[in-house]
Formats: sequence, structure tokens, C-alpha cells
Amino acid sequence: HRHLLGIEGLSPQEILALLDKADEEVLVSRQVEKKKNVLRGRTQINLFFEASTRTQSSFEIAGKRLGADVMNMSVASSSVKKGETLIDTAATLNAMRPDILVVRHHAAGAVHLLARKVSCSVINAGDGAHEHPTQALLDALTIRRHKGTIEGLTVAICGDIVHSRVARSNILLLNALGARVKLVGPSTLMPAGVDRLGVETFTDMRVGIAGADIVMMLRLQRERMNGSFVPSVREYFHYWGLDQEKLDHAAPDALVMHPGPMNRGVEIDPEVADGPQSLIAEQVEMGVAVRMAVLEALAEHLPNF
Ligand code: CP
Repeated sequence: HRHLLGIEGLSPQEILALLDKADEEVLVSRQVEKKKNVLRGRTQINLFFEASTRTQSSFEIAGKRLGADVMNMSVASSSVKKGETLIDTAATLNAMRPDILVVRHHAAGAVHLLARKVSCSVINAGDGAHEHPTQALLDALTIRRHKGTIEGLTVAICGDIVHSRVARSNILLLNALGARVKLVGPSTLMPAGVDRLGVETFTDMRVGIAGADIVMMLRLQRERMNGSFVPSVREYFHYWGLDQEKLDHAAPDALVMHPGPMNRGVEIDPEVADGPQSLIAEQVEMGVAVRMAVLEALAEHLPNF
């Protein structure tokens, strides 16, 4: 592949190969000397049209650990503010001959469109409610390092499913690797036709997470709701917020995940987020390793200008 646009299109073997590579990158990242030179002389541009803490900084660190020259394009102070389009912005950056563009955009499909217009490799860092492939890969890496395998696990993905590219990429990846996926949340936040993705759906948290090995919480994305469904925080937390009492319905050795950013006290109780079953900080560490693995895999296919 020249691009990584989604989990869709990756075979189980390709996913597992990326996870194996990421395990090696964890070791590199835990050394005092963290540098490799597989991307030496290459230019990586991070082009984020939406806010990010974890994804943008970990792509920057990952590129630098592999020896690339990394540039973070500041959209807020760019000519996008003067009305320059996505495609014109991409064409302009492409003319500077980068090797890799890492792109986040608020519109589903925007990154795919852009990939057709540029000559470099493109990585999807999140497009609307569509896909966030490196998030699903880092989640899978985190799970596999604790549970040994993904196959046969029960993973409950909970909360605001309809607005979540994280949920969509995780459903695709977890299904590809043979996990049982349960979606839990209010029916108003469940996408239509989701049953076709090979998942079970639940509106009751205690029923939905019963026996789950992994409880993956999602952020309530109020900025994408346009006033259509804005429950009170108290009501949402009461029914769908993960506290210890609800978590005790999952498997005794269940682990808790959240892609971040978290709304503490809305979808997750701070005591659970910071508790012994939480993998949230570890997910962030795995994010760097997975992005190194993806960049290194694409490096084998980068054109030699
Ligand atoms: N999980 C995630 O994508 O976080 P950011 O929005 O901070 O990058």
C-alpha cells in the first residue's frame, strides 16, 4: 500500500504484521537512544484541520524517531482561513515534495479525496465520523500486549457510537481479527444499519458489558450533535457513564480503555479512568509505536523522486 486511509482494505495478516512491527518500536521507544534512520532525508507534513493532542504529537514524535524531517502545518494561521480549499492546500504542500502527508479533517472521505490528488503517501489521522485507523491499531496493540491475542475476546465499545471514527475503525479491526464486538449506548447514538457490521447492540450498560474482556469508552462528541441529542451530563453519566459498579459486570480481569480526550464525569468516572483496570496512559505510549510502525511500513513504498 502507498497510503493508510482506513482499516478497511487491510487484511488480517497486514494488521498483524503492523502490530508485530509496533511491538519492536515499543522497545526502540523505551531505549535511551530512540532514533532510527529509515526515514532519514524524508519529509513528513502533518496537516490537521481538526484539533488534536495525541495523534498529532505522536505522529511528530514517531516521524522524528525514524529520522524524518517533520513539519506541522498550522491550519489556524494558514491560507485555509482565507478560503483556500482542501485540494488547493494539498496541491500547494505537494509541490514542496513531501514524502508523507498525515491528514485529519472534519469531513468523512476528505482524506481519500486528497490522496487521489497528491503524489506522496497519505495517512488518515481521522476523517469525520468515518475512520481513524492508527487509533484502532494502537488499541489492538494495547489489548494484545495484555491479553496475548485479539481472537476470541469480547470487546464492548460504549457511548457515542454514531459520531465515532474510533468505533468504526475498531469494529473493522476487531472483526477482522476474530473478536466479538458489542456496541452499548443510547439508541439515538447508535448508527442505522450497524448490525450489518457483524456486531451486537445494547442500550443497557450492565447487560451490554456483561462478561466483556475489554470495555472501551468513547467521548460524548457534543460538538458534532447540532443540538439533535444533547442529554444532560447527569443523565448520561447515570445510564452510560462507566463507574466501578457498572464495570463490575464485566469479566473480573476486564480492562478499560478510552481513546481520549476524556470527559471525566460524563462518560467515565475519574476513579475508573485512573484505576488499576485502566489502560488509558498505555494507549498513548502505544500510539507512538504504532505510528512508527505505519510510517516504517509505508517507507518501503515511498516513491524515489
Ligand atoms: N484519540 C485521539 O485521536 O486523540 P486526539 O484527538 O487528541 O488526537
